[in-house]
Amino acid sequence: MGQMFADNPVVAHTGARYPIIQAPMTWIARAQLTAAVSAAGGIGVMETSSVDLEVTSREFEAIREVTDKPFGVNLAIMFLRQNEEMERAIIDWLIEHQVRFVTTSAGNPRRHVDQLKEAGVVVYHAVPTLDAALKAEDAGVDGLIVEGAESAGIRNAEEVNSFVLLQAVRERVSLPIVAAGGIADGRGMAAAMALGADGVAMGTRFVASKESPVHPNYKNAIVEAGVDGTILLPRPPRAKYRTLKTPAALEVQENPDNPPRLSNAIDALYIGGDVENTTGTAGQSAALVHEIKPVSAIIEETVSGFWREIDRLAAMRT
Ligand SMILES: Cc1cc2nc3c(=O)[nH]c(=O)nc-3n(C[C@H](O)[C@H](O)[C@H](O)COP(=O)(O)O)c2cc1C
Repeated sequence: MGQMFADNPVVAHTGARYPIIQAPMTWIARAQLTAAVSAAGGIGVMETSSVDLEVTSREFEAIREVTDKPFGVNLAIMFLRQNEEMERAIIDWLIEHQVRFVTTSAGNPRRHVDQLKEAGVVVYHAVPTLDAALKAEDAGVDGLIVEGAESAGIRNAEEVNSFVLLQAVRERVSLPIVAAGGIADGRGMAAAMALGADGVAMGTRFVASKESPVHPNYKNAIVEAGVDGTILLPRPPRAKYRTLKTPAALEVQENPDNPPRLSNAIDALYIGGDVENTTGTAGQSAALVHEIKPVSAIIEETVSGFWREIDRLAAMRT
């Protein structure tokens, strides 16, 4: 299986066996999950926005203790811009620790891309629109993570879904594309590749994995969610936010001008398992997640399902 993605630009850039990325997720994408994804042949991406550099360093070393396989680090640009000292420190730290693959999100990558690339770091930037994709290409990034409106978390208010967004970006941009949003298995991966992607990123699928550190109630809420199990809530001033349709999320939807104050999701849901009184980040892909599984099974089944779909389509020629 190892050679099967040999000509793939995401595999070439990351050094992983498969072009399957575990999306960065606040608090969740730390050593336990990220190491498991990389050890299984995918590309774990560690988040850095919910902790200080000391914790980031500890998590980084913990991943290195578990696996010698490649993994990436995410920089949330908007978050870093609020703290210039942290911004400088983390860029220096990335370079010093010879991190080879960085994803940037939530902001303009131009600010960091030259310095990182000069140090030999491959930079992929997450974009929710065609316009942002063109700007990122212009800034000199090595690849794009194209996030459709199906995706979990903070979304663009324009709500363009992956089916059109991937094709629109592919028409105009020649950089490697990683598709994010709406993908939880090999069928979704094959579809994304047909629409122009070179790899996929999954977030929600990995939240409901054995190695994900969140409370079982959150994982089970993802497993139980149907195709209408998530909603997009307003996230002032301009964005939206995709979350599980919890009672608290519905209350926010019904009272957009005077939303209720919700419990902090990390404390209440991730740690406490309360799925009633807060929102819980999840994508529409939750409808395709039917079981909590070990990360290795998720990766293996995604790869085998991908080739099954490719064979099914190729058989149309015979
Ligand atoms: C629980 C959770 C937390 C997330 N947190 C972040 C984050 O901190 N930064 C970020 O860029 N994206 C974040 N995302 C979005 C993912 O990076 C990715 O775009 C998304 O999960 C793809 O859609 P999917 O969940 O349907 O696979 C988060 C997603 C989830 C499920």
